[in-house]
Amino acid sequence: MAAIDYNELIPNNVNLSSDRTLQRALEQWQPNFLNWWKDMGPDGSNNFDVYLRTAISAEPNGWAHFDHVKMPDYRWGIFLAPAEEDRRIGFGEHKGEPVWQEVPGEHRANLRRIIVTQGDTEPASVEQQRHLGLTAPSLYDLRNLFQVNVEEGRHLWAMVYLLHRYFGRDGREEGEALLQRRSGDQDNPRILNAFNEKTPDWLSFFMFTYFTDRDGKYQLCALAESAFDPLSRTTRFMLTEEAHHMFVGESGVSRVVQRTCEIMKQHGVEDPAEVRKFGVIDLPTIQRYLNFHFSVTIDLFGADQSSNAALFYSAGLKGRFEETKRQDDHKLNDLMYPVLDYADGALTTHDTAMLNALNEVLRDDYIKDSVGGVERWNRVIAKNGVDFKLSVPHKAFHRSIGKLAGHHFDPNGRPISAAAWQKNVDTWLPSTEDRAYVASLMGRVIAVGKYANWIAAPTVGLNRQPIEMEYVRFN
Ligand SMILES: [Fe+2]
Ligand SMILES: [Fe+2]
Repeated sequence: MAAIDYNELIPNNVNLSSDRTLQRALEQWQPNFLNWWKDMGPDGSNNFDVYLRTAISAEPNGWAHFDHVKMPDYRWGIFLAPAEEDRRIGFGEHKGEPVWQEVPGEHRANLRRIIVTQGDTEPASVEQQRHLGLTAPSLYDLRNLFQVNVEEGRHLWAMVYLLHRYFGRDGREEGEALLQRRSGDQDNPRILNAFNEKTPDWLSFFMFTYFTDRDGKYQLCALAESAFDPLSRTTRFMLTEEAHHMFVGESGVSRVVQRTCEIMKQHGVEDPAEVRKFGVIDLPTIQRYLNFHFSVTIDLFGADQSSNAALFYSAGLKGRFEETKRQDDHKLNDLMYPVLDYADGALTTHDTAMLNALNEVLRDDYIKDSVGGVERWNRVIAKNGVDFKLSVPHKAFHRSIGKLAGHHFDPNGRPISAAAWQKNVDTWLPSTEDRAYVASLMGRVIAVGKYANWIAAPTVGLNRQPIEMEYVRFN
């Protein structure tokens, strides 16, 4: 195999060229990654020149690098946030001790599992989104999709780096397996359920990047607190990219809402069937998509009571969101936390040991944050003078994990029978017909500066470029 200059090919701040073992491991993994990208990355895109942002260092200005590049030539780099001097463990049984630079033997299996689970979501979302380029509403949006995709690829590199560098042979095997599982595959699916769902249209994509990439943010924030310092530093850098993914989602939904409201006002229509005649997505359909993505995503936080969550916290592997800003003892042995329960036909709340409820704590922090963007979408609706409000459904709605799974609740959290669920489900979640309608709007718009009818143009371009720039060149 030809020698690869890693500092040239893989921008990094981990001194890759000085570690021969790691270099050899990555040398073997890289062609497999590229094969995976060619098979499962964005459909038919290998020859496009895409105006991408590439991280070339972990410094704030390391982000300033924009250029038209072919995606298979994207420089998937390995970056850790700068080491904090004398960093100490911030929580759990080892609170106050120096952080770990190597993996302690007793936590090896759990840390590997945490890293693999996070790593698995990265290629999964690329697979879920791989056909969207064929129906992009504009070059601007197409470029944003591709930017998200290459960065999820980089997140996979980030996790594989940790596996190769710190977990020896097991880690290398896990690195291979990350390229072998496939989103939605019957025999070898991705680990987490939401990552086996389809992302069939652009409304789904924007909801996914708003809600599900935000789950990514919360998981990464919890891992950024880890006592295993390389994991903390890796995830801290990944968070800088996640912010852009959530921007794509929030602004995308906002533009869809804006366009729908414009049409409603312009033609004086409110009835969804009338609104659809003008080729835009009616607000109740947007609400149903929101309900679906929100409920599937909050399941990702796991069971509401979990001894694993307690173990990961007490051992120092995974903290809470903004752990260091909290005013408690960071051990949590004596604290309680309210979780939802279903008993005797009613939804109730009961207090449980906080250590066991840490999935619920993270889920609640996530929910608080996701509501913010929904309120901003509502301001767009109000500004257009339309009387409609989007909202996130109750936490109990459409859950498949934890104590509420197997019971039925309406979007307000009222318990209902299975029959009532069946009767109303198409008003709460996207129906086959909704999906077919949204799919019917998806046509490829690739003229420079043009936008599909169902979405408003963005107000500003990327990197201070005009919105009518040639963000993708097809060759
Ligand atoms: Fe990611
Ligand atoms: Fe992401």
